[in-house]
Amino acid sequence: MRIGKYRAYSSTANLGPGFDVLGMALQAFYDEAEVRVSMNGEGKVKVRYVGPYSNQVSSFAGDCVAKRAALALLRRYRSDVDVNIVIWKGVPPGKGLGSSGASAALVVHALDDILDLGLRDEEKVLLAGEGEVASAGTPHYDNVAASLLGGLAIVSKSKTGIKVWSTKIRVMFVIAVPDVHTHHSKTKLMRSLIPDEVPLNAHVENSSYLATLLAGLLTGDLKLAGYGMSNDVIVTKARSPHVPCYAEALEAAIKAGAYGFTLSGAGPSTVALVDECSAGTVAKALEKAYSSCGVKAQVVITQVAGRPERLD
Ligand code: HSE
Repeated sequence: MRIGKYRAYSSTANLGPGFDVLGMALQAFYDEAEVRVSMNGEGKVKVRYVGPYSNQVSSFAGDCVAKRAALALLRRYRSDVDVNIVIWKGVPPGKGLGSSGASAALVVHALDDILDLGLRDEEKVLLAGEGEVASAGTPHYDNVAASLLGGLAIVSKSKTGIKVWSTKIRVMFVIAVPDVHTHHSKTKLMRSLIPDEVPLNAHVENSSYLATLLAGLLTGDLKLAGYGMSNDVIVTKARSPHVPCYAEALEAAIKAGAYGFTLSGAGPSTVALVDECSAGTVAKALEKAYSSCGVKAQVVITQVAGRPERLD
């Protein structure tokens, strides 16, 4: 029997114009797992959830996510072992914080480590992404890439495969997590709002925002990064009218000194780019904005997280 304890972090995907391409790992929330592997088995996987959000996991098909990822990994690499996983669920599901991605990343990272597989990052992201189909309808790899690789993660997916890249970034964010009921297939629903085709001028405009966002993040120019992050004429434009208090929160965050503001993943959470000086003011402004608009929200100041960690 091999036993290990691991932690993987939440993430915010898209960062405005980086739909399905960019993810940032965030320390704000995390999942932990105790993984037990019996070396003489038949490729069976058992997953059980405990902890603050364990009772919400099944409403978001999240319980299939980690199991699917683990089964995919065993089928491919070690169908001769059985795995028993207990996940302490600390990333709230259905809030746009990469909850299912964190669980899938956690399980794939843990099994890779405990079985000494030495998998490449691309392979791990693909396996963890298999789990995401269960909650979003289609695989998207931005959240799992961020949770698996830490920092700012870039995913490039084409017909020929997938490439992933990540780098450490020292920035701070304020996350607002509204206490609103979200539909069990919220991500699917929010993806259906996005137009299938966009005019060339919208593509060009959005490319300029993505370019400025990345240039700003990589050079530490937060004004430039925030400009790119706040402007997305395709996905955020289509989704934000359906997100509770989005307009009010955006106005409050920018007025309070945030460099940028956007939807976190498919929402309903929002994310503001800040620095040490503005973080507290922006957090207070967001609390006030949500409460004036009649929605309770948990507001968290957070730093960027790294890769999953082994805890024992
Ligand atoms: N890129 C995905 C989306 C992330 O925006 O639908 C979902 O958390």
